[in-house]
Amino acid sequence: MSAWLTAANTLRTTEIVQIRTESPTVKTYVLPDRLCCKAKPGQFLMLWIPGIDEIPLSIMEAKNGLVSVSVKVVGDATRHLHGMEAGATVGVRGPFGNSFTESRGRILLVGGGTGVAPLLFLARQLSAKTERLSFVEGAKTKDELLFVRELGGICNEKSLITTTEDGTAGLQCLVTEPLASLLDREHFDMIYTCGPEVMVKKIFEITEQRKLPLEASLERLMRCGIGLCGSCMIGKYRVCRDGPVFTAAQLREVKDELGVSKLGFDGSRIPV
Ligand SMILES: Cc1cc2nc3c(=O)[nH]c(=O)nc-3n(C[C@H](O)[C@H](O)[C@H](O)COP(=O)(O)OP(=O)(O)OC[C@H]3O[C@@H](n4cnc5c(N)ncnc54)[C@H](O)[C@@H]3O)c2cc1C
Ligand code: FES
Repeated sequence: MSAWLTAANTLRTTEIVQIRTESPTVKTYVLPDRLCCKAKPGQFLMLWIPGIDEIPLSIMEAKNGLVSVSVKVVGDATRHLHGMEAGATVGVRGPFGNSFTESRGRILLVGGGTGVAPLLFLARQLSAKTERLSFVEGAKTKDELLFVRELGGICNEKSLITTTEDGTAGLQCLVTEPLASLLDREHFDMIYTCGPEVMVKKIFEITEQRKLPLEASLERLMRCGIGLCGSCMIGKYRVCRDGPVFTAAQLREVKDELGVSKLGFDGSRIPV
């Protein structure tokens, strides 16, 4: 079937049933949707904000007929969304893209910014099945560390390392700093990451040096979300259709672009 004729790609209108403030810049939106409520960790949806724009968002939770997304205010669409109240109408397409594979054994998750949202979804799903989950989370400042209480409950306090750039919580450093020594001390069967691309690139380099398996969720500018328009290309891949989750082997193929450049809204190549 053509990508645009699928049920997932049919726009459904729905209403925001709950809004939670997670930080000064991030809010979580809970929406009923019969398809996205069955999404797997790593998948994303396209959220239509009437009269404004449609934007890609990672799914943070999907259960009981509801789907949740956590959204940071950065520009026009996200600002309008942050101004909306429970009961407002929005549109949803999806779920789109692939998902993280379900690994067993010792698992490490590394997240930065709103990249922590899909990793929380993954951590909740893995926690019942794995030996031990560890999480390293970084943010610029304490206020921007997301879901610390939820992650503490899943990973237990000792397996959650937080870092802030200004030292207001956890270790004062970038999230990548404690990672290298953690990987040298402990064995992990799989590492998952999501966050700013420069962070993902650094984590890819650290895991490559140690020949460790990695799955990383990437972000690119997206329009169609279903592999047609080409605005989300990285190397030969379309992030919306072939990703957003990529393995270490795939990241090796695109390492010249990873954390370096991407396509802008006008199709020209711009720095990440
Ligand atoms: C697969 C995927 C999953 C995502 N998941 C989340 C999520 O869970 N939570 C969340 O808050 N955001 C997420 N994003 C980013 C989100 O889509 C953008 O922040 C949003 O589209 C910005 O729209 P805007 O109109 O508010 O900003 P714009 O006015 O379009 O842009 C404002 C600024 O944000 C930057 N920006 C725009 N689009 C993106 C993008 N795709 N990635 C990074 N920066 C961007 C622009 O370069 C610009 O500097 C995701 C993006 C992708 C591709
Ligand atoms: S967003 Fe159109 S091809 Fe990916």
